[in-house]
Amino acid sequence: MVDPEDRVPENKVTPPERQYPDPKVVLKRKVVGEVQTTGHTWDGIEEYDNPMPRWWLWTFYACIVWALIYSIAYPAWPMLTRATQGVLGYNRIDELNAEIDRFAGMNAPIRARLVETELTEITSNPELVQFANQAGAAVFKTWCAQCHGAGAAGVQASGYPNLLDDDWLWGGDIESIHYTVAHGIRNTTDDDARFSQMPAFGDMLSNEEISQVVQYVRQISRQDYDAALAGPGAEVYADNCASCHAEDGTGDRSQGAPNLTDAIWLYGGDVASLTHSVRFARYGVMPNWTTRLSEADIRAVAVYVHGLGGGE
Ligand code: HEC
Ligand code: HEC
Repeated sequence: MVDPEDRVPENKVTPPERQYPDPKVVLKRKVVGEVQTTGHTWDGIEEYDNPMPRWWLWTFYACIVWALIYSIAYPAWPMLTRATQGVLGYNRIDELNAEIDRFAGMNAPIRARLVETELTEITSNPELVQFANQAGAAVFKTWCAQCHGAGAAGVQASGYPNLLDDDWLWGGDIESIHYTVAHGIRNTTDDDARFSQMPAFGDMLSNEEISQVVQYVRQISRQDYDAALAGPGAEVYADNCASCHAEDGTGDRSQGAPNLTDAIWLYGGDVASLTHSVRFARYGVMPNWTTRLSEADIRAVAVYVHGLGGGE
């Protein structure tokens, strides 16, 4: 018989520490008893000293062995002049050049035909046009986009013309475009470059005459203008400008003199830009490409530009 005094009363719960021992005590016992620690402690948190898992360790050693074999077989260690070349003699540049040669070889026949065919006949040969457009687009992105813009729309008021419209300084038929691209404009590197030079009228006309002719240019380009100045400006224009920009202001392609009556401006049609153009002149320069591009590439990009929308 149990002494009634020793019996746990039915309504009394087991003391909590027996069912849920203090976790800190358990942790401590485990650490000290089963796993070694490194001896580092931060705020009561200790660092275990467990060994690395086997699989991890072996993978690590395998990687080291692989790296050694690789660096003997392939170009790897930087030396004074160049890296070690590796016993397999592998070279990425050789691989790239072989790839380029392979494509060049594939394209060689059609590039040859592009050069042999009359310029005016290229544009009516769909196969050549298709090839030239693709090759020309690549040439344009590499060599022309810096100045004429990636979409060939030119750069507003910077003197780099829009090549998409049908307003041409020097001509928009395939032969004119080809000539412009091959020889360039006002450069010093090609004796056959297109050339003309507008004089700087700041030395030749009075300030009054310059504001008069500027207002006249505003009038013929159908912008707001001051009639009192534009009247005498017509005379200044006839005496000084018509020889290049034509009596009616529509320009002269043989001299690359822009049409002043359309709303298309190389350097801007506001009074300040016009005054600057007249006073100092502009002298836009485009490089020649004969020295940098093959004839096939020049033809390709000429066909591409011709096909952009404004070709004649
Ligand atoms: C360094 C800047 C520059 C680069 C690069 C350049 N151009 Fe030009 N290009 C000009 C300028 C400036 C003019 C206008 C010159 C003028 O005022 O007559 C021009 C004019 C032209 C014209 C004549 C437009 C017309 O209305 O008659 C064509 C066509 C042309 N460029 C095509 C090209 C092609 C194609 C390339 C690439 C192979 C190229 N340009 C690269 C600056 C450049
Ligand atoms: C010797 C030929 C010549 C004469 C004379 C001449 N120009 Fe020009 N003008 C040009 C050429 C070429 C350009 C192309 C800009 C360049 O040099 O890059 C041009 C450009 C311009 C431009 C810039 C057009 C634009 O699209 O931004 C204006 C404006 C202009 N001329 C006005 C005049 C006026 C006004 C006169 C007379 C006072 C005049 N020009 C006389 C040849 C001439």
